[in-house]
Amino acid sequence: MSATNENINLLDDHRFIQPTASDSRSPCPALNTLANHGFLPRDGKNISALQLIRAQRTIYNISLPLASILAVGGILFCGHFPGKLDLQELAKHGRIEHDASLVHSDASSGDTITVDHSLLEELLRDSTDGRGLSLQDFAKARVRRQQHLPGRKLDGIHEKFACGESVLAHAVFCGGDAVHGEAPLDQLRVWLGRERLPEGWVGPQESFGILGASKGIQAIQAMIVDLQNKRD
Ligand code: HEM
Repeated sequence: MSATNENINLLDDHRFIQPTASDSRSPCPALNTLANHGFLPRDGKNISALQLIRAQRTIYNISLPLASILAVGGILFCGHFPGKLDLQELAKHGRIEHDASLVHSDASSGDTITVDHSLLEELLRDSTDGRGLSLQDFAKARVRRQQHLPGRKLDGIHEKFACGESVLAHAVFCGGDAVHGEAPLDQLRVWLGRERLPEGWVGPQESFGILGASKGIQAIQAMIVDLQNKRD
């Protein structure tokens, strides 16, 4: 099954089911959503790289090289022997997980997995036109969330991760375009807030790869620098 040209069947095996208390979940809305719809094991445990790659490609139309880097990186940085991942392992602070997330509290709160709904509403209020989030709006949100950090910045690698997450979120709701377009607020509210694929979900028609991600990250980093300079 591919997200490129068909509606994804979200019924039967892939209907949304709220996770139970014993299910493992992560600070990543994309992966939690995949588990909540059964594209990853619903208990979120002992997930292989192959399962991560296949699910990212099927639903979000991430290219094979990018999906592989994310999957193998996630398992190497956070997983357990023999090359498997429980979703909650992604919450290990300072590995991939970082402070100043868009819809999750900082590690000092003790919980970086549960969605913070007031942060989600603040994020949606960063929309310039009240309809969607452009990449510029995501940049605004990143600057706002980083205000309390020393130097108002994450360290270099986590800055890249954080920008990459915004770019991915933007791209999968904008048909695979890293830079142009807007992620609709009503869809973001369902995906980020309920970790559920929005009604009538059709994956991006264009595969999203390393080139798109690099272009998006460069663009959002430039927007962030620009916004920070204007604040100074
Ligand atoms: C195997 C693949 C992936 C891994 C291992 C992974 C891992 C993570 C981790 C550890 C975080 C937490 C970072 C933080 O502290 O905020 C995160 C956040 C995030 N991820 Fe993923 N991710 C993957 C794929 C994806 C994909 C495909 C998308 C988009 C379609 C995505 C979108 C996001 C977003 C938007 C956030 C930020 C949440 C926030 O700021 O509150 N991720 N991811």
